[in-house]
Amino acid sequence: MIVMDQIAAMQALMRQYRREGKTIGFVPTMGYLHEGHTSLIDRARAENDIVVLSVFVNPLQFGPNEDFARYPRDFERDRRIAEQHGVDVLFHPEADEMYPEPLTVRAIVQARADVLCGRSRPGHFDGVATVLMKLFNIVMPDRAYFGMKDAQQVAVVDGLIRDLNFPIELVLVPTVREADGLAKSSRNVYLSPQERSEAPALYAALQAAASAVERGERSAAAIRRMVREHIEAHTHAEIDYVEVCSYPDLTPLETLAGTVLIAVAVRFASARLIDNIMIELPKTGEQGDGKGEQACFARS
Ligand code: PAF
Repeated sequence: MIVMDQIAAMQALMRQYRREGKTIGFVPTMGYLHEGHTSLIDRARAENDIVVLSVFVNPLQFGPNEDFARYPRDFERDRRIAEQHGVDVLFHPEADEMYPEPLTVRAIVQARADVLCGRSRPGHFDGVATVLMKLFNIVMPDRAYFGMKDAQQVAVVDGLIRDLNFPIELVLVPTVREADGLAKSSRNVYLSPQERSEAPALYAALQAAASAVERGERSAAAIRRMVREHIEAHTHAEIDYVEVCSYPDLTPLETLAGTVLIAVAVRFASARLIDNIMIELPKTGEQGDGKGEQACFARS
């Protein structure tokens, strides 16, 4: 595995791979790798000649009162895991290399950013889009791999790739969960034992909502209420949001139809957690054939 921290050297190597006709799969991360990340790496490994992993805690996507300084970091561990999973190139730049001087140009995400997490994290997706534009221009991948746990991020990246015509295929990978259903996240390490024992209630609430949809519930208000009540009954967390919206537009829905995202975010004393499920339903006006109603399935 080649470890690189310089942009110019990375670009030269990537150009060489492209000249050799090799396909490049890219997994952008902020490190502290867990099984969610390794599922992205494994998928990229299976689908490309070259797998590039970036580990960069991007200061631009953290608000002033967020956890940039204490975000978990362990590069030696990340390096070992990357190597074990067959990464070819590990890109680990310093912040000075990525942002040597104040930016002249940065991304502003116009849609899909002012709902869900974007509401309580203003500027977050602008920071994500800006660093991804840089990383895409550095790595020049054929495919980029993202986990569905951050469904809003995936919707924003989908818009970024489309709007700016990056010749990159966006590959969505299902959320990886602990045995008790908690979505894997680098931030799970912040949870106290009590919070950790309560945290699986998020996914349990989402599963209860999916079962209600399967039984025919189509009211977004009823689904939101059910998810809220479950989380309130089983945790001490403060609910940031419970939303039912279309995917990938992220428009809030009154009636469930089409591709539906049910998403939650909660604040425990020490960590903010998010989770979601995606459900496929017939679009409004489409005749259900009976099977269509059954065909509701969760993608994450
Ligand atoms: O999902 C993340 O880890 C980050 O938002 C990303 C995509 C690596 C950009 O910094």
